[in-house]
Formats: sequence, structure tokens, C-alpha cells
Amino acid sequence: MSSSLPACSIPLFDTVASYRQWRRNAYDEKKSVGFVPTMGALHEGHLSLVRRSLAENDLTVLSIFVNPAQFAPHEDLATYPRTLPRDLALLEQLSVSVSGGTRTPSAVFVPTVHEMYPSGISQNTEEQKGTFVEVKGYGHQMEGRTRPTFFRGVATVVTKLFNAIEPTRAYFGQKDIQQALLLRRMTRDLLLSHPEPQDLIIVPTTRDPVTSLALSSRNAYLTAHERESVAPALYSALQAARVAWEGNASKAECIRRAEAIIEDKKREVNGSVDLRLDYIEMNDPDSFEVVSDAMSRQQWEGHVAGRPVILSGAMWVGKTRLIDNIILGAAHTLGIVE
Ligand code: PAJ
Repeated sequence: MSSSLPACSIPLFDTVASYRQWRRNAYDEKKSVGFVPTMGALHEGHLSLVRRSLAENDLTVLSIFVNPAQFAPHEDLATYPRTLPRDLALLEQLSVSVSGGTRTPSAVFVPTVHEMYPSGISQNTEEQKGTFVEVKGYGHQMEGRTRPTFFRGVATVVTKLFNAIEPTRAYFGQKDIQQALLLRRMTRDLLLSHPEPQDLIIVPTTRDPVTSLALSSRNAYLTAHERESVAPALYSALQAARVAWEGNASKAECIRRAEAIIEDKKREVNGSVDLRLDYIEMNDPDSFEVVSDAMSRQQWEGHVAGRPVILSGAMWVGKTRLIDNIILGAAHTLGIVE
């Protein structure tokens, strides 16, 4: 443990070597280790993952690392909220009761950029040197259309984190559904054992109880008005599409209904907020390919019995890009259980 880290009652590790000593003890004691990777600026969404891990594992480790490789050069790496002392205070207060006692977070891994990228890291992929992980064929659709290098950065850092932490189970949010499904595929393709693909757990999205806005670290960029009255339009739009899908409308019609909600909101704010829809789309959860325009729910169910659809969207509120999604159909087949 290094002395440059803040005081915290939970053990903090900023090097892989120091963490590995702690991990060896957990192996010796035959304890399961749940892992929650984060970029910090923790909120209730992150904490729901931690609680789930506490409930299901003897020990729970978080990582807090703002990963440069998943930010494009024009994105918000420099301004991404960094609130380590507050994050640690939240974790110190967290506990879950289980039969036989109470569990609290066991360790937090807070590496430097150099520790994670010993060969260095440029945000410009042309300049990058060293080893990267690409999940080919699954990173260019949905979020990858707007952020073409994002999933390469995520897959690379999560591979490194899995190698360092050696978790029994790892926890990801449905909020970033493509990320979670892509990483599950990666663990399978790379024959990883820490975690095994079935031990990559997807936890439902935590929402603001009043507005249903999906919690996100980037919500901190919004004004109170934007957060309470403007940003929730994205989820309302997804809900409108869901209702249309359940009524057996074509996909194209479902998307039109969703877009109409955003247009209404734009008229309402009347230029006072720069609101722009990036996309609302429906995709196959296996291939991430777009569902065809003419497809209806009944046709889909006849076509791929039991397979759900991912209905997702991204929207700009000023300079802040927000994402959200709903699973249409049997979310449990993707391993998402409330
Ligand atoms: P970050 O955005 O900090 O999110 C960390 C984890 O919390 C992710 O699995 C994300 O899906 C989950 N999460 C965020 N908001 C949530 C919400 N409202 N409800 C439920 N879960 C939520 O995602 C990343 O960091 C990074 O890409 C990372 C995986 C750490 C790799 O750098």
C-alpha cells in the first residue's frame, strides 16, 4: 500500500504487486472475490453493483480508474469527474447483511495510468503501441457507431483488470448493456477463468426514483433543470417505443414514436437547452445487428423464439451525451435478474 493514497478504512492498492499479495491470502482462505470495475464518481447505480457483489461473494473488490483508452481525443477525459475522497467515504458507509453477519467492501484498486499501461497510452489509436484487445464484429454497432474506438479501450482495460484482480465473479450494469454483453463474449473468446463467462453478472439499471433518469456519473455535468426536466425524455422516448412494440407496431413505427417524444421536448425547451438525439434503435442482443424496419414483435418472436431485443438510445443535452436502454422481452435469457 502506498502512502500517497487518501486515508481510508478499506485497504487501498495502487499497484498490481501489492494487490496480488492480498489476493493470495484470499486464495489461501478459499474466499470468493466479487469485482466491480468503475471509473469512480460513484452513485447509487455503482453501489447497487457493489451490494450485489457483497451479497454473493465472501470478499468484494472495486477498481476506480478513469481509462484513457476508452476516450476519443475529442471526448471528456480531462473533465471526467474525479471524486476519490467522496467515493471512498461512500464505500466506507456501505454494508450488506448476510446470514452470519455483515459484509463491507474489502479492497479498492486505484492504479495510476502508468501501472495499467506500462507501454504508455495515447488516446489517438494511430499513435498507440503495445497490446490491445478488440472484440471484432461487435464493437462497431450501437454505441460503437458514434464511438468507434470505445469498446477496444474498454475490452483492453477490463482484460488487464481481470488479470490483475482475478475475480471469481464480476459485476456490470445493464445501463451499458452493449459493454456488458461484449465483455461476456470476450471472456468466452479469450477462455478466461477469472471470471468465467457465466460469472459476469449484469445488474439492472438504477434510476432516479422521481424522474426515472438512469443514474450516470455524467449526470453531474447537467444543470438541475436539465437533469430533472430535459434528460428524462430519453427514457420516456424508450417507453413510448416499448408500448408501440407491445402493440405490435413495426420497428420503424416504434422508433418514430420515440423520436416524437424527443421532438416534443425540443419544442418545450424552445432552444434554451441544446437537445439532440444521437440515435434510438433496436438491436439483436447476440449479434448487435439492427432489427429490420418492418419487423414487429410477433414476427420477431416467430423468427427467434425467446430472444429479447435491446431498445437503446443516446441523446445530447448540451455537451453531455447520455445513454439508456430497455430490454424488450425475456431479459432473464441475457442473465439479467432483478
Ligand atoms: P462506469 O461508467 O464508472 O460504470 C461502472 C459500472 O457501473 C458499469 O458496469 C456500468 O454499467 C455500471 N453503472 C453505471 N450506471 C449504472 C446505473 N444507473 N445502474 C446500474 N449500473 C450502472 O463502465 C465503466 O465505468 C467503464 O467502461 C469500465 C467498465 C469501468 C471500464 O473502464
